[in-house]
Amino acid sequence: MKGKFIVIEGLEGAGKSSAIACIKALISARGIDVVTTREPGGTPMAEAIRECVKHPWQEDVAVETELMLMYAARAQLLNNVVWPALARGSWVIGDRHDWSSLAYQGGGREIPDAIIEPLRTITLKGFCADLTLYLDVDPAKGLQRAATRGALDRIELEKLSFFERTRARYLALAEADPNAVVIDSMQPMERVHRDVEQHINSFMDNHVPLA
Ligand code: TMP
Repeated sequence: MKGKFIVIEGLEGAGKSSAIACIKALISARGIDVVTTREPGGTPMAEAIRECVKHPWQEDVAVETELMLMYAARAQLLNNVVWPALARGSWVIGDRHDWSSLAYQGGGREIPDAIIEPLRTITLKGFCADLTLYLDVDPAKGLQRAATRGALDRIELEKLSFFERTRARYLALAEADPNAVVIDSMQPMERVHRDVEQHINSFMDNHVPLA
């Protein structure tokens, strides 16, 4: 793969969208073509899956259904958008990726790793992000921010304890991954952006060949 895959992760209200806009501008400024994606979503079929997983169904949604839909959407996105873009030499910024399933379905829903792992093998085929920025926010604060954006979806309606387990898993994933960085998203926005900028610039300094 010629391009680089940078992923932004975080709970609802962590400020992913504005961080992504900032990262996109920094990478483009170095003359690199940038593609932005989101998960679940990012292709017509994966966007339909997104609608489906977020919809507040009048029936219980089995945790296995939710898990497999996330990986189905991811397979579409990787095959149709991410891998072709990286092969062309574009850089891809992902608004969520595999850590979201490990954190939300593994941590939040408490699905054992032994169940998630085969889906990861089938879908990712060993692929992983070159850099993950995890924007850490206290779940109560993040949900408060998310609530100002409008009606909450099926996942956002979960209890606080669900998001606490999700956050704990995110922090554990970040701790174990040398290609991941934790950014304190409870700081004022300018400081969050300053931290994002610092990490992205140093990543680019190490990975963009000098002209
Ligand atoms: P968002 O991108 O607007 O935050 O919405 C995506 C929602 O889906 C969010 O609640 C996190 C959740 N999600 C999972 O539970 N597992 C996943 O693998 C992904 C990609 C998202």
